This record gives sequence, C-alpha cells and structure tokens, in this order.
Amino acid sequence: MPFPDLGTQLHLSLDDGTIVLLRPITPDDRPLLEDGLQRLSLRSRVMRFFSAVPHLSERQLDYLTRVDQHDHAAWGAATDDGEIVGLGVGRFVRLPTEPGAAEVAVTVVDEFQGRGLGSLLLALLYRTAQRVEVDRFRAFVRFDNQRLIESLKAIGGTLQHAEEGVVMVDVPVLGDDRLPPGPKSDELKRLLARIDQALSDQRSQNEA
Ligand SMILES: CC(C)(COP(=O)(O)OP(=O)(O)OC[C@H]1O[C@@H](n2cnc3c(N)ncnc32)[C@H](O)[C@@H]1OP(=O)(O)O)[C@@H](O)C(=O)NCCC(=O)NCCS
Repeated sequence: MPFPDLGTQLHLSLDDGTIVLLRPITPDDRPLLEDGLQRLSLRSRVMRFFSAVPHLSERQLDYLTRVDQHDHAAWGAATDDGEIVGLGVGRFVRLPTEPGAAEVAVTVVDEFQGRGLGSLLLALLYRTAQRVEVDRFRAFVRFDNQRLIESLKAIGGTLQHAEEGVVMVDVPVLGDDRLPPGPKSDELKRLLARIDQALSDQRSQNEA
C-alpha cells in the first residue's frame, strides 16, 4: 500500500497541547494553500521562497497539490476543530539527478511558529522518506535563518555555500538509531515514535 495512504488523518498535539490535523496534501487543498500564503508574513515568505511571492499562480497550485507521495511528498497541517484552517506544509521533491536525495521545505504560518509544528512536519517527512528510499534531504536556507540552520546541523546536516546569502544543507535520513547524539535528535526520535503510534492507531481503527 502506498504511504501515506490518502485517507491518513493524524491528530497530534503540539508542545502547548493544541491538537492539529496532519494529512497528505491533495488537489482539494488548493484554497487552503493560497489562504495559508496570505497568512504568512513577508519575512516568512522570503525565508521560504526567497522572494515576497504575493500569491500562488494556478500553475504553482497545480504543482504544489498534485503530488504522488513518492517523488513528490507533501503533508499539510490544519486546525482540528470547526472550520479547517491551514497551518503549515512540509514537502520534499526527489532530485532527478540524485534519486536518493530530495529537496525539502517546511512552512508554518507565523501565528503557529515556535510551537513545534515545523518539527512535527519534518518528522513526518522523515518517516515518509524512509518508506520511499530517500536517504537525504537537501534544504536551501537563507543564511539569516540561523536558528533553522543550527537545528538542521544538530540532526546531522552539513552545509555548503549555494549562492549569495543561501546555504545548501544536506541532512542524512538515517535509521532512527543512527541519528547523532543530542537533544535535537532525541526530540526527532520522540516525534517519530508519536507518529508511528498515531499511524498504528489509525490502522487499528480502520480494521475495526
Ligand atoms: C522554519 C519553520 C518551518 C519552523 O517551524 P516552527 O513550527 O516554527 O518550528 P518549531 O517550533 O518546531 O521549532 C523548530 C525549529 O525551527 C526553527 N524556528 C522556530 N521558529 C522559528 C522562526 N520564527 N523563524 C525561524 N526559525 C524558527 C528553530 O530552529 C526551531 O528550533 P529551536 O527552537 O531549537 O531553535 C517556520 O518558522 C517557518 O515556516 N519559517 C518561514 C519559512 C522558512 O523559513 N522555511 C524554511 C525554509 S526550508
């Protein structure tokens, strides 16, 4: 069975106890993506897209939502109660020239940043990558996004200059027990275990 199954809906809590819904992105998510972009600050847009991107074109929305979860995987996070509001997206796209590597990007709307959602999305991508034989992530990060660079280094990321003001960070996607020692790796392992539990709970529910 492909992973993630398109019916996957995980309900996981953030650091402050807020429950969020995480599920694979589908073409139905186009309005949520455009709305999410409108709730991203200028700084966050520049950090993610390296420019102020005022809106997403039809072509970009097609590209961002028509994903096969193998060469292009994407998870969306949304509120878990009442009206569905998009909170963030994590995606990776396999590099045609290096099939074991995929370019990764995570975005969380500003009002939800710093609450653990970006880490959760990265952990989901990590699990997804392990299922489709992606063994390293490549992230292009602006040099002034230092906190993120430090976080990626702590889970094994190595840096190379990419272009003016941008570093290329390669992060190996290893077995969970091969992560470098340290608090960031411990946090990732804890998140991976919670994701595994949520996936297994969902499987049991579906079989019941
Ligand atoms: C980077 C980003 C995805 C992190 O998501 P988040 O939900 O805020 O992250 P978490 O709360 O799980 O924290 C994980 C790490 O993300 C980084 N982070 C958290 N808040 C951040 C912010 N406001 N700005 C930049 N990095 C931030 C930190 O490295 C943090 O680890 P630390 O607390 O040990 O320093 C999010 O801040 C964002 O969308 N920023 C704008 C877009 C972007 O920079 N994307 C990355 C390019 S690939």
